[in-house]
Amino acid sequence: MAAKDLHLKPFDKGTITKLEIFEDYAQAWIPTFVMQPRFEEIHIFDFFSGPGYDSMGIAGSPIRLLEKINEQLGNILSTKTRIVLHFNEFEPNRVGQNKFELLKLNCYNYIENNPKFNYFLKPNYYNEDAGELFFKLLPTIRRYPSLVYLDQNGVKFISQEYLLELEKLNTTDFLYFVSSSFFKRYGNTDEFKKALEIDISELEAGEYFHMHRLVLDKIKSRLKKDTDLMLFPFSIKKNANVYGIIFGAKNYAAVDKFLKISWKRNDVNGEADFDIDEDSKKNQIDIFGQIKMTKIEKFKNDLRKMLLSVTPITNKSVLIYTYENGHIPKHSEEVIKQLKKEGKLHYEGKSPYLTYENVFRNKNIIEYKITK
Ligand SMILES: C[S@@+](CC[C@H](N)C(=O)[O-])C[C@H]1O[C@@H](n2cnc3c(N)ncnc32)[C@H](O)[C@@H]1O
Repeated sequence: MAAKDLHLKPFDKGTITKLEIFEDYAQAWIPTFVMQPRFEEIHIFDFFSGPGYDSMGIAGSPIRLLEKINEQLGNILSTKTRIVLHFNEFEPNRVGQNKFELLKLNCYNYIENNPKFNYFLKPNYYNEDAGELFFKLLPTIRRYPSLVYLDQNGVKFISQEYLLELEKLNTTDFLYFVSSSFFKRYGNTDEFKKALEIDISELEAGEYFHMHRLVLDKIKSRLKKDTDLMLFPFSIKKNANVYGIIFGAKNYAAVDKFLKISWKRNDVNGEADFDIDEDSKKNQIDIFGQIKMTKIEKFKNDLRKMLLSVTPITNKSVLIYTYENGHIPKHSEEVIKQLKKEGKLHYEGKSPYLTYENVFRNKNIIEYKITK
């Protein structure tokens, strides 16, 4: 399947959503490492950079990364963290590599206008097939705190050879872009089969707009049972197609950041730029006279049952349960406070201490107990 040359056109709404999620994550990720003096050097990899801007001059991923670095200039200059960028752009089957030339020029111009970047920034530009470059750069990805963007056209990068390598990395957070609904159209072609063996009947049985979730479930099913890697989806609808981001990381600090970003984008489901579970219809009574629960209501209901059956339970266990279910601490906090108000749950103090900072950074572990 020929790749679409999106840069001859303006970015569409779905592409902007994707780019904003990428940049929001960079905005959260960069200061985490910059503010800790023990990390002298951090690396950011954009394996499919594009030329830097779309046809209307809207910034693409590499320029957005530079903007996020610019926002942190004061902190970076004070801690002297070195930032190494790896920008790659390659147009297979083309002799002239115009996008690559534009990428270098656009980044060069941006950096020239911000001369302080020269104190700490090392940009590297590559014009190689991302599939090959990925393996060349793996030792560097492995060695430093790394943020990896894989903004591919299509699906190739979710194949096992790449995912197995990403799974082995401990200090890397990554964001994939996957054309998930293409599996339904092209699932029988070699390219798609190599990326992920999906049984077409499974796809047909599933809800079309849940395709990206299904792809994520398939990817998860290929990971080792005891893997520490946590993966989360964000589905993006473009006309009749479903695309999506897959976020991966091994630590809860990263998961906390990503989930906050995705729930801020969509406070109904936290995982799509549309009403993926038709939650807006759920306050109506269905044909069996039942009211279906929304995603948040269902989560809160399950958590409430757990808190009323497992006792004592720590804030740490509840926080991990919250993340594992793709929710943010705020949802759980509301349940816990409500149970305390009802006199059914007890914990010392006013706050349930249910934040990443309390549990993992300050190690402020408390217990919630059922009141007899
Ligand atoms: C979805 S676009 C990425 C857009 C970019 N992140 C941005 O914000 O503009 C995919 C890019 O990857 C490039 N590309 C296609 N095949 C590639 C390959 N095998 N290796 C590296 N880059 C490739 C395309 O030319 C295109 O610019």
